[in-house]
Amino acid sequence: MLYLLPLALFASALSASSDALSTKMTKNLKVLVSSNDFPESGLEVLKEHFTVLQSRYLHFGEEGVRENKEELLNLIPGCSALLWSSHHPISKELLDKAGPQLKIVSTASAGYNHANVPELKARGIKLSNTPNVLSSAVAEIAVALILGAARRFTENLEQVKSGQWDIGFTKTLGQDIRGSTVGIIGLGGIGQATVKRLSGFEVGKFLYTGHREKPEAKALNAEFTSLDNLLNQSDFVVLAVPLTDETNRMINSTTLGKMKKNAILINVGRGDLVDQDALYDALKNKQIYAAGLDVTTPEPLPKDNKLLTLPNLFVLPHIGSATVRTRSDMAVLAAENIVNALTGKPLLTPVLP
Ligand code: DGY
Repeated sequence: MLYLLPLALFASALSASSDALSTKMTKNLKVLVSSNDFPESGLEVLKEHFTVLQSRYLHFGEEGVRENKEELLNLIPGCSALLWSSHHPISKELLDKAGPQLKIVSTASAGYNHANVPELKARGIKLSNTPNVLSSAVAEIAVALILGAARRFTENLEQVKSGQWDIGFTKTLGQDIRGSTVGIIGLGGIGQATVKRLSGFEVGKFLYTGHREKPEAKALNAEFTSLDNLLNQSDFVVLAVPLTDETNRMINSTTLGKMKKNAILINVGRGDLVDQDALYDALKNKQIYAAGLDVTTPEPLPKDNKLLTLPNLFVLPHIGSATVRTRSDMAVLAAENIVNALTGKPLLTPVLP
């Protein structure tokens, strides 16, 4: 047995020195991080292997995006990877500037509708995203929106701010979750996490719809049905699907017309899943009861947008994944995808492998 020891020591020394060698070899590869507020945990992973360039600007807000654009165009030539930390579109111009050595775009988000997939595919550039690690945080926001819309937080907070409380035994009453039917459009990671969190609320029935039945649905007691049935029967309709050509404006005047009068629409996917003019009409005319949105088109939603005049709309500024732990987990996963792509290993969460 003892004779194996020197062999094991030799093997581990060999692997340590080959790691050091490969790190030395990757250090000349440049990775661009698209924003100045990317979590340290993700930067550390990148800095261990690569030369990291980082924008000096935020990638959020009108000003940040404008300042950032020039900065990114200046920094990207010669980079092997781009780490994208916002929902702003990745332009063809930026990819053109990068040069042919760009191997991977890693977006720190579950959604990748902003990532210019056809262009990346045509150029043979890999794409990764950060699903799963954010499902719990986004599901918590889905529950918050359900509560906020059902219990009329917009109106009630307004009363607190104005000091004029319109209270009474039958005033400003909301809707119960207890005994309700909750319909999930898209029973993926976020949809499943939402059902799990709501199961303590004594929901009467969970329905879901999508391309196919999900094996996970059985344990969640969720029943597969058509979109029409789900819309006809649900008291709460939760949108948790990615934005694609198929799902774009899937909630419109026709589908809103199929919902119950007491129905509450929740959107934690993307703003463009909903035709916002049609939603405005449905809420204004009380065709449905209320809506709760974490995502809108555009973002930020201008403060004079007509949606914001509605008392039965509860809106949050796209904070689904915005917790310390989740953003750090997303950052590390996004960084590890880059490490894998540039060291010849498979992506952990590939969109374009
Ligand atoms: C995502 O990552 O796509 C979600 O919108 C997070 O909020």
